[in-house]
Amino acid sequence: MRRSKKNLSNNKARTLITKMNPRSPISEQYRTIRTNLQFASVDKDLSSMMVTSAGPSEGKSLTTANLAVTFAQQEKKVLLIDADLRKPTLHYTFRLDNSLGLSSVLIGDQSIEQVVRKSDLDNLHLIPSGPIPPNPSELLGSKAMEKFLATAKNFYDMVIFDTPPVLAVTDGQILSRICDGVLLVTRSKQTEVEAGNKAVDLLKQVDANLLGAVLNDVEAKHSNYYYYYGS
Ligand SMILES: Nc1ncnc2c1ncn2[C@@H]1O[C@H](COP(=O)(O)OP(=O)(O)O)[C@@H](O)[C@H]1O
Ligand SMILES: [Mg+2]
Repeated sequence: MRRSKKNLSNNKARTLITKMNPRSPISEQYRTIRTNLQFASVDKDLSSMMVTSAGPSEGKSLTTANLAVTFAQQEKKVLLIDADLRKPTLHYTFRLDNSLGLSSVLIGDQSIEQVVRKSDLDNLHLIPSGPIPPNPSELLGSKAMEKFLATAKNFYDMVIFDTPPVLAVTDGQILSRICDGVLLVTRSKQTEVEAGNKAVDLLKQVDANLLGAVLNDVEAKHSNYYYYYGS
């Protein structure tokens, strides 16, 4: 099958710095986020979390993938799942076939074992979205989803979900109810303060455990101090 131009450009855009260059200052920043997440949940069990943002293209998928790699590099057994059943990208990032995935498990066609894929990191396993369903919110809010997560937690130290934007659709709110914690991504010069606040409100409305926010894509000249002081 021929790949569309869109897919090709997506493929090119996806290089994970935490994998390619674990010693870079940016990878160090991802480790700082990992540490802060662990502190944010010090007295609670944090074995499932989701990453979301107010709007599209703020860096949810990139942040989720780099964080999953960073947790896996810390010898945690990590399962990264694409729960953006509307605009999935995990299969591009990790170059996977997407004909089976989360949606296939949720409609009862496949078991987790049948859809889970290995990555080139021993500790990191992946589940792509699977075929895009007509009813993503319904699937993510289903009993099947709860069962899926409970099973996944038996096998992994950390289950991480990539999700759609919370201002656009309810999927993120729905998923937050069964995740131990939520990380909100904002993008420098893109996320409006009002939109960010609205996203926080929506998550609070459903009692999500908001672990914190990541400011993505800060201009290098503003972050030079990372190189000198570490954080
Ligand atoms: N910090 C960053 N530096 C460079 N490119 C980025 C950064 N964050 C995101 N991008 C790019 O922006 C696009 C959208 O990011 P993505 O993670 O797919 O967003 P989302 O999942 O929120 O829609 C992708 O092409 C991604 O590679
Ligand atoms: Mg995405």
